[in-house]
Amino acid sequence: MARVTVLVMVMVVVMVWETRGQVNEVNSVGVRGSFITPTARWLLGIFQKYDGRSNESTPDLIRSSGYPAETHHVTTEDGYILELHRIPCGVQCVLTEEHRPRPVALLHHCLLCSSSDFVMNTPDKALAYMMADAGYDVWLTNARGNTYSRNHVHLSPEDKEFWQFSWNEMAMYDVPAVIDYVLNVTRQEDLYYVGFSMGTTVFWAMMSERPEYANKIRFMVALGPVAHVQHIAGPLGYLAPFVSQIEITMNLLGKYELLSFGPVIDRLISTFCNEQLFTSAICQNILFLICGPNPKEMNKEFLPIMLSHTPAGTSVRTVTHYLQEARSGKFQKYDFGTLGNLRQYGSLSPPSYNLSRVTVPVALFWSDNDWLADPTDVLHLVGQLPHVVYSHRVEDSKFTHLDFVWALHADKLVYHDLLRVLAQY
Ligand SMILES: *[C@@H]1O[C@H](CO)[C@@H](O)[C@H](O)[C@H]1NC(C)=O
Ligand SMILES: *[C@@H]1O[C@H](CO)[C@@H](O)[C@H](O)[C@H]1NC(C)=O
Repeated sequence: MARVTVLVMVMVVVMVWETRGQVNEVNSVGVRGSFITPTARWLLGIFQKYDGRSNESTPDLIRSSGYPAETHHVTTEDGYILELHRIPCGVQCVLTEEHRPRPVALLHHCLLCSSSDFVMNTPDKALAYMMADAGYDVWLTNARGNTYSRNHVHLSPEDKEFWQFSWNEMAMYDVPAVIDYVLNVTRQEDLYYVGFSMGTTVFWAMMSERPEYANKIRFMVALGPVAHVQHIAGPLGYLAPFVSQIEITMNLLGKYELLSFGPVIDRLISTFCNEQLFTSAICQNILFLICGPNPKEMNKEFLPIMLSHTPAGTSVRTVTHYLQEARSGKFQKYDFGTLGNLRQYGSLSPPSYNLSRVTVPVALFWSDNDWLADPTDVLHLVGQLPHVVYSHRVEDSKFTHLDFVWALHADKLVYHDLLRVLAQY
């Protein structure tokens, strides 16, 4: 318990620090610049000396690993411009220049994450590369508000309105727009969807609200599936009872964006997180603050890269939507309060998502030591999904939430099995 308290305090300090930056920016009469202090500049120098690769974007990382990478942009119905990254084929097809149509796989990242989730390991261990080598045309999406998707046809991330979304809007607009775009470019009828954590939440919500997309999905794989979060553990569970206060406080501070890829904080973290530095152990704790630690499964070589890409930013509302669910125990739309709900939904409380509309075949991978996708919540979900064809509990009792994408043994414990199941559909 003492450890959790310390972790929450660290989180609060980081938030206050960020807020202070915003207040400074407001005070400095409209001059928006990053608040790089001499100390930060000095630390940045150290950081650059120790690690060059942290500056690489997802496509850079993909190319450095010897795979082809493409960048695409999609505009949603409500005007957000999302960036997609594509690995059109694996290492082998680059050599043979063979360009036959391939089955399409769309991979969706977690909360505060990005397309880089799936490429932060060596090619034999990172899911995106393994799928490309197994013959899939791999697309990595970026939800609105993260590092790569901070554009809009008329709003800017500095506008409050830009951040008025939760994962509900990602489900309603982002994922459908991405699916339509990808199927159009690839001339395919349907695709495989692989969601990790929030990437599964948006899938369930999309199926509930836009069931017409069911025939565009051939098969869905859920890694660390999240729908109901009644048993959420770690700092998020600890914060859930205070969700209203947190949201009000953030709004009063004029803070609608959460933990973005800020030049200072992330670089500072990276500075201290180089493998050579003994502080590495501390950094692992900051990184695993929300998801629970398992240092044994970390690839330390990729630690600075992971830290410079994560957290990738989202809206405050995206996190409070989860906290609301942790409190209510329901998988339902965003709670605007009684009056707001009446205006928004015409009812006093938010409507629930309808999981019986997730008609596509689903395979789930989950684990006992997952703070966000607790086994009790996962089994509740499995009971409500009409077409579960495979439900696999990872055979490692220490396996955490982030291990589904970054663990050194995720290939043996999850991905080989995942590819075997996919090949059957
Ligand atoms: C599909 O792609 C074509 C060009 O290849 C474009 O003209 C058309 O607008 C696209 N349709 C959708 C729905 O994106
Ligand atoms: C959920 O969706 C199914 C299938 O569309 C429908 O039959 C059922 O009535 C819905 N349930 C609720 C509570 O709306």
